[in-house]
Amino acid sequence: MELKNGNYVLSKAKENKYAVGAFNFSNFEQLKAILEASNEMGADVIVQTSQSAIKYMGLDVIYPMVYALAKDLDIAVCLNLDHGKSFEIVKSCVDAGYTNVMIDASDLNFDENVALTKKCVEYAHSHNVTVEAELGSLKGIEDEICAKESLFTKPEDAKRFVELTGVDSLAISIGTSHGAYKFEGESHLDIERLKQIQKLVNIQLVLHGASAVSNELKQAFKQSGGEIGNANGVSSQNITQSIENGICKVNVDTDLRIAFTTGIRNALKDATVFDPRKYLTSGMEEIKNEIKRRIKILNCNKNKENQKTGLV
Ligand code: G3H
Ligand code: 13P
Ligand code: ZN
Repeated sequence: MELKNGNYVLSKAKENKYAVGAFNFSNFEQLKAILEASNEMGADVIVQTSQSAIKYMGLDVIYPMVYALAKDLDIAVCLNLDHGKSFEIVKSCVDAGYTNVMIDASDLNFDENVALTKKCVEYAHSHNVTVEAELGSLKGIEDEICAKESLFTKPEDAKRFVELTGVDSLAISIGTSHGAYKFEGESHLDIERLKQIQKLVNIQLVLHGASAVSNELKQAFKQSGGEIGNANGVSSQNITQSIENGICKVNVDTDLRIAFTTGIRNALKDATVFDPRKYLTSGMEEIKNEIKRRIKILNCNKNKENQKTGLV
């Protein structure tokens, strides 16, 4: 099966009130684990690469690798550019076979963000590729950009932005941030703001910085010999509330990095091991377990169950 665009996977999710996981990868093993786990769960999936992941792997390598691993699966797979910062990278990814692209011009002013997003939408749509944009800033590290404090998305701005750009999905800022250290105390999102945005903007909404950094994950990481301090992520209750109020794409990278590293560390405790396939397989197993846990929270596997019973 060909890769599907964002609209294909997200419109079903929005209509049926579940979310599709958008998982970052930087190598073959992470990608393979994400696809296998999603396929075993019967859940459509978005796999995505940041600009730095593209730099690491090489753009020419990515689409053929994703296509080869995805073509015989029973689920829809979408390949997304995550946090593209320029028209040039968006165009390169569209030309290379990506089926969704994110233009993140959230660090520009409103009018500049609109202009750049619109240019990307025009190019991508002429190639049947859908586009995600971002309005508002997430605190923490966004690829190579560090926003000092969070700038939550204003509902009225979101409405105007969507009308002016014709974008397909919108990443909003309601209290999450990238990385493992999101909250000092309890996980807290501005669900009221999300409700207002959802009321005014009838497109697919995206939650970035959605890793859970769960106790289970932290415990396993520590037991493997890792140090993670007071890391804290988004609670599953907050994720569920977000989905109930319009989020249909949930971005996760950090959790998978932690899981992968845990698996590798555990395998390397055996000092006689030096076959990369052995320790990387152990990393992949941990990623698969984490993806399966996440898919249940997103309610995404219902998609397949419903299809079987004719509900979708
Ligand atoms: O949104 C940020 C992602 O976690 C990507 O991070 O630039 O280190 O690949 P990266
Ligand atoms: P996390 O750092 O919470 O995994 O967020 C990833 C993300 O938003 C990628 O775009
Ligand atoms: Zn992000």
